[in-house]
Amino acid sequence: MAYHRRTKTAIILRPGGFSLLATGNRHPRLELDLSKDLGTAPKHAVISHIIHMWIVRDIEPRLERSARTRPVVVVTGARQTGKTSTFLRLFPNHGFVSLDLPSEAEQAEKEPHDFLRRHPSPMIIDEVQYAPGLFRHLKATVDTQRARNGQFLLTGSQKFTLMKSVRESLAGRADVAELETLSLAEILAARPQTALEMAIVRGGFPELHANPDLDQVAFYNSYLATYLERDVRSLASVGNLRDFERFLRACALRSANLLNKADLARDVGIAPSTANHWLSMLEASGQVVLLEPWFSNRTKSIVKSPKLYMADSGLLCTLLNIRSVDALRQSPAAGAIWETFVFAQLRGRERRTGRLGSLFFWRDRTREVDFVVDVGGRLELFEAKWTELPTDGDAVNLDFVRKVVGKSRVAGGAVVCRTPNSFPLGNGFQALPASQLG
Ligand SMILES: Nc1ncnc2c1ncn2[C@@H]1O[C@H](COP(=O)(O)OP(=O)(O)OP(=O)(O)O)[C@@H](O)[C@H]1O
Ligand SMILES: [Mg+2]
Repeated sequence: MAYHRRTKTAIILRPGGFSLLATGNRHPRLELDLSKDLGTAPKHAVISHIIHMWIVRDIEPRLERSARTRPVVVVTGARQTGKTSTFLRLFPNHGFVSLDLPSEAEQAEKEPHDFLRRHPSPMIIDEVQYAPGLFRHLKATVDTQRARNGQFLLTGSQKFTLMKSVRESLAGRADVAELETLSLAEILAARPQTALEMAIVRGGFPELHANPDLDQVAFYNSYLATYLERDVRSLASVGNLRDFERFLRACALRSANLLNKADLARDVGIAPSTANHWLSMLEASGQVVLLEPWFSNRTKSIVKSPKLYMADSGLLCTLLNIRSVDALRQSPAAGAIWETFVFAQLRGRERRTGRLGSLFFWRDRTREVDFVVDVGGRLELFEAKWTELPTDGDAVNLDFVRKVVGKSRVAGGAVVCRTPNSFPLGNGFQALPASQLG
């Protein structure tokens, strides 16, 4: 593989053609036919694919550290969150092979020894979910040089199957990181002028911010079509893509609500077992995130079911037909969209601090607090409110829950809202802009 450092463009030569991967263009892969006279085509292709802008990701230091300390690093995450580009950007001296190419996937699965001989470490193996059989052989290869770190960098968009393969074959050898869409902090660091509501409606897919002229409606239409065709069609349980799409829209309508699978199944007209299966599919591919209630011995939270959230506010707005800031402001769903957005920021914050499984919600018969962060046993409480000017009344549930769990256990609490600056509310709570989470 050749790599053009200035343009951050990778050219992967292979028999019969080459692929060009550029970090920051709309067509990350350009296939050209080597049998034709290329003339100046490669140079031209490289120049025309110069990235306009690389948006620095929070995950970068962690990936660099992992590659220095582990033989294998795995990045999972929804489609188009930047998995491939980030590896190419950070590790320009690694080789690159994508199992998106059926011939490569087939060899990786059926003749893994030959495959790994052809693609020796250090190597980025993209879309590794297409060859689950490769994992055992990766282990053997990695173990021949156990002390060498950063040997194989893997990407894939099906997190449960990937994590299972890692657990079964690469335990202790691999670090698994999840890449989500851009957080508000990442967007603002790259484009400080971005208005908050615009960031919500446009969502966090990097390409939409690297290239502000890109039409967002066209982007999401093509995103959904590709997702359905590429990831969903292959599932035996999805007989009808239209039904699946309706199911996705039904989930969007319920973002920031308690999950009720029976309701979802009934609304879409599918069997409850199918709804179950499709929901885990949406979770595995990073489109939907479930949030569990917080429990303790002292408080008997009567709610056992999780809450459902769409992962990205832009995709959520698209599915709700909200295409502009005005439409968002007028939408009865604005509160739920805001809560979905705040949840994404909190997930980003927890990942940055390296905490796992620390986020919950709190709910009993009468009250709810949107987010509870368990920081080593002490709790931070957050309410998401769409308002620009919250009052003490917006913090009553924070106060209530603080009394229930005990004041000494609560490290702090805030109403996350659209205020431009933080300010104190009564009872020691704060009004906090979403940009200050973290
Ligand atoms: N940090 C970034 N800054 C600017 N542009 C980015 C960044 N990350 C990704 N992009 C752009 O976003 C698009 C998607 O990126 P990429 O192909 O790396 O995502 P992916 O997660 O590998 O997607 P898929 O799962 O579909 O393979 C590309 O056009 C890429 O150039
Ligand atoms: Mg990719």
